[in-house]
Amino acid sequence: MTHVLVTGAASGIGLATVRTLQASGFTISAGVHHRPMPDDVLAAGNVTPVELDVTNSESVLKAVAAAEAANGTIEALIANAGLTDDQLLLRMDEASWAATIDLNLTSAFRLAKAVVPRMLKARRGRIVFVSSVVALLGSPGQTSYAAAKAGLVGFARSLAREVGSRGITVNVVMPGMIDTDLLRATGEQRLASILSQVPLGRTGRPEEAASVLAFLVSDAASYVTGSVIPVDGGLGMGI
Ligand code: NAI
Repeated sequence: MTHVLVTGAASGIGLATVRTLQASGFTISAGVHHRPMPDDVLAAGNVTPVELDVTNSESVLKAVAAAEAANGTIEALIANAGLTDDQLLLRMDEASWAATIDLNLTSAFRLAKAVVPRMLKARRGRIVFVSSVVALLGSPGQTSYAAAKAGLVGFARSLAREVGSRGITVNVVMPGMIDTDLLRATGEQRLASILSQVPLGRTGRPEEAASVLAFLVSDAASYVTGSVIPVDGGLGMGI
């Protein structure tokens, strides 16, 4: 069964994705950083935790080596780790900007560089980048985060064109308001204001993003590449 590397696997959307993949019989290498995988996930089997800091090239290479030593060639990557550092532009310093771009965009380059060579050899592979609805919608206080998440689209589509003839698909998922730690860090007033613009009138559950991510690494998605798929209750409709 397909071996999938998931980054940011110990919480939120990443954790829900691991559980979804686990239930479908995938073999999973779970990238963790500063937090362990829950015991029940490990007990259920087919999940190998690997320490992986997406901001550090050496850590990425070590994690890929550990994942492959445990589970064989990585056939699919779900690059999910990401964080925002919200500040209005006038208060944002260059260090914060650079760190946010590094964590959310340059990490995609690092991860792809590490896994694509083996996928090229195998002539098959699946790559999914987790972006955000704010990439296209914009969001005050999130210039750096939105720029990084928008950058993932150009990166993914260019890579999709580079590697498509070798059976590798590259796609982007854009979650909207998904109920995780990241969303809970947003102020209540702001949350209510964004929620009022969601046609489905509620936040999403991590499992609702996970099911789309799991679809994109499954055999069922074999003819889907270069796509940008919103999972946002309709928040970004039309952009
Ligand atoms: P979360 O905070 O639960 O997950 C973020 C994960 O990234 C954590 O597991 C954390 O350990 C990991 N991480 C942070 N820095 C890392 C590093 N240097 N190296 C490796 N891992 C690192 O939040 P959530 O919501 O599950 O976020 C997952 C992805 O979904 C992120 O890319 C986020 O930007 C994106 N997203 C989330 C939305 C939401 O409403 N929750 C909306 C749009 C996008």
